[in-house]
Amino acid sequence: MLEHGGRLQQAAQRYGIPRERWLDLSTGINPIGWQGTTTSPASWNRLPEEEDGLLEAAKAYYGAANLLPVSGSQAAIQTLPRLRARSRVGVPVLGYNEHAHRWRQAGHDVVPLAPTDFATGLADLDVLVVSNPNNPTGERFGPAQLLEWHAHLSSRGGWLVIDEAFIDSTPEESVARFTDREGLIVLRSLGKFFGLAGARVGFVLSSPALIRAVQEWLGPWTIAGPSRAVAKAALEDRVWQGSTRRRLCSDGRRLAEVLTNQSLQPTGGCHLFQWGRRPDALAIHESLARQGILTRYFAGPAPSLRFGLPGTAADWQRLESTLCEVAR
Ligand SMILES: Cc1ncc(COP(=O)(O)O)c(C=O)c1O
Repeated sequence: MLEHGGRLQQAAQRYGIPRERWLDLSTGINPIGWQGTTTSPASWNRLPEEEDGLLEAAKAYYGAANLLPVSGSQAAIQTLPRLRARSRVGVPVLGYNEHAHRWRQAGHDVVPLAPTDFATGLADLDVLVVSNPNNPTGERFGPAQLLEWHAHLSSRGGWLVIDEAFIDSTPEESVARFTDREGLIVLRSLGKFFGLAGARVGFVLSSPALIRAVQEWLGPWTIAGPSRAVAKAALEDRVWQGSTRRRLCSDGRRLAEVLTNQSLQPTGGCHLFQWGRRPDALAIHESLARQGILTRYFAGPAPSLRFGLPGTAADWQRLESTLCEVAR
């Protein structure tokens, strides 16, 4: 099992600070997530049914013709490698590490690539996995570029897999609407922008044949009834989505400014996190942790640190004053 952010209990034990005293900035989850519907007793009592309106809500939100809800985009990340014969698969050299791990685990040849080498590396690949924007570096590619890469790969029976877990605040950058094209696979998550990581809901958007293959592999009832109800209501809540986009836009800028003011200029990021490469990343991570602020440290390929967004005014204040202390 790989290491991930959000392991607050583990941090509480390691640093001897009670769980409730932590400010957890170790993930890219929107700290002010969607909250709304209360779940009905029937959603717990009955088996989930596909005709509950979730598919229609998701198709309207993503603008995609074919999709499959899965229990977090993680479920799709684990399934896709099982659906191909041994392939050469390009993955970002620093990215969400589950992609490389799961393709490797399924027996494929994984080729770590710097994003600047995606275009030249393509000729030698069967599958390219791109996170757009990339986590944690924030690199992003426009739809025209991605569709060109897709055309190259699909002409040889290849796939372009685009992990759009962090794209919801800039939906114009998504290629979701093109996913009826064979070999173009988009993964979406309700865990980040919607802040519903605990509900474990994500989507695979692709051609009908690929969707059927993923569905066949995963089997029935992959998402709990209450999670389906919450996901449907969140996807339909256009008012919340609009105001959240605006807030995240300004919060993302604010986080970059707070870090820059303490000489921690981010190297990259997106609305939900900022990331910086620094030789002293581990020392900063440790100093903040001793003050009860959890960040995400990456040891390689070069030491770096990722900060998620604080939620409340008090959390912002605490981050600013602690950074000031640590910088001193
Ligand atoms: C880029 C990226 N994709 C996918 C996932 C998986 O998210 P989930 O399974 O909650 O949809 C993560 C989780 O951190 C992620 O960072």
